[in-house]
Amino acid sequence: MKNILVTGGAGFIGSNFVRFILQNTDFSVINYDLLTYAGNIKNLADIACSPNYKFIKGDILDDTLLDKVFADYDIDTVVNFAAESHVDRSIVDPQIFVKTNVLGTLTLLEAAKKHWKTDINDKYSTDYSAGVKFLQVSTDEVYGALGKTGRFTENTPLSPNSPYSASKASADLVVRSYFHTFGLPGNITRCSNNYGPYQFPEKLIPLMISNACNDKKLPVYGDGQQIRDWLFVEDHCSAILAVLEKGKQGCVYNIGGNNEIANLDIVSLILQTLNKPKSLIEFVKDRPGHDRRYAIDNTKITTELGWQPKHTFEQAIQTTIQWYLNNPNWLNEILSGEYMGYYERMYER
Ligand SMILES: NC(=O)c1ccc[n+]([C@@H]2O[C@H](COP(=O)([O-])OP(=O)(O)OC[C@H]3O[C@@H](n4cnc5c(N)ncnc54)[C@H](O)[C@@H]3O)[C@@H](O)[C@H]2O)c1
Repeated sequence: MKNILVTGGAGFIGSNFVRFILQNTDFSVINYDLLTYAGNIKNLADIACSPNYKFIKGDILDDTLLDKVFADYDIDTVVNFAAESHVDRSIVDPQIFVKTNVLGTLTLLEAAKKHWKTDINDKYSTDYSAGVKFLQVSTDEVYGALGKTGRFTENTPLSPNSPYSASKASADLVVRSYFHTFGLPGNITRCSNNYGPYQFPEKLIPLMISNACNDKKLPVYGDGQQIRDWLFVEDHCSAILAVLEKGKQGCVYNIGGNNEIANLDIVSLILQTLNKPKSLIEFVKDRPGHDRRYAIDNTKITTELGWQPKHTFEQAIQTTIQWYLNNPNWLNEILSGEYMGYYERMYER
C-alpha cells in the first residue's frame, strides 16, 4: 500500500491521474493543489468521498505545510504535476513560471529528502514496492523544436524555447541533481501533448470545441502547420504508473503515442465532427518563438517497461469531443469567469 502525494491533482492531467490511480491500484492518494485558475476541484467531484482519497489545498512553495503533509500522511511517493502549464501565459508573465515550476519543485524535493532520509549509497538499490519515489512530470517541450524529420529521444539535448519550457527544463535539472547528489530515488517523464476530458479551455482542443459549439471564430496561430505528437490523457496516466512501478532509478522516460498531427488538421477534424463550417477558422498572428514540430521516440518506455498506449487518436478524439458536449456546465462555469478577460486580451484585441 502506497501513500502517494499527487501535486497539481486538480488540474487536467493530475485529476485524470488521481482517478486512474484510485481505479487501478490500492494506493492512498493525497491530492495537494493550490487551485489556481487552472485547478478545479469539481474535476474530481465523482471520487471526492473515496476512502483512499484526501484533498489538501496547498502551495508547493509552502515548505511548512509540505512538512506537515509528509509527516501526517507518511508520504512515500510524489508525482509532481503542479505547474504553470500554458506557453502563452509564460510569454506574458514568465516570473510565476520560474517560481512555481522551478522553486516549487525544489521545495518539494527538499521535503522529500528531509522525510525520506535517502542516502547516496542507496542510489542503485531501489525497490519501489518497498521504497520511495519522486516522479517529476515533465514535457517534450524541454527538447525544443524539430525540423521535418527526427524524434526526441531521452538523449536529445535540452533546448527549450519558451519561458514555460525553460522553467520545466530547469526543474528537470534540479530533480536530476537530487537523484545524483542525494540519492533521492526517482524518475523524470517527458510526455507529448495530451488531450482528453477536463482540459482547461485555453488549450487547443477544448478551446476549439468550445468555440465551435458557440459559433465563435477558431483562432489558429500562423499557418496552423505546427505539428504535435498527441496522446490521450489516460495513456499518459498508465505510462506514469508503469514508470513508478518499474522505472530504473534516476532515468528519464519519454512518453508519446507516435501520433503526429498538425494543429490545422485537428481544428478541421473538430469542425467536421461538430458539423460546423470551415469559415469559422481565423488565422491569427503566430505565437513568438512557436516551436514547429515535436515528436517522441518512445522506444525506451515500450521496450524497457512494456508500456503501450491503449487508445487510437481516431477513437479517443471522438470520446473527448463527446465529453465536452456532455458536460456543458463544466465548460460554462469556466467561460463565465476570470478566464474570459484573459481570452479577450490574447485573441480579441
Ligand atoms: N497538458 C499537456 O499536454 C502536458 C504534456 C506534457 C507534460 N505536461 C505537464 O504535466 C503537468 C500537468 O499539466 P496540466 O496540463 O494538467 O496542467 P494544468 O494547468 O491543467 O494543471 C496544473 C495544476 O497545478 C496546480 N498548481 C499550480 N501552481 C501550484 C502551486 N504553486 N502549488 C500547488 N498546485 C499548483 C493548478 O491549480 C492546477 O490544478 C505540468 O507539469 C505540465 O508541464 C503537460
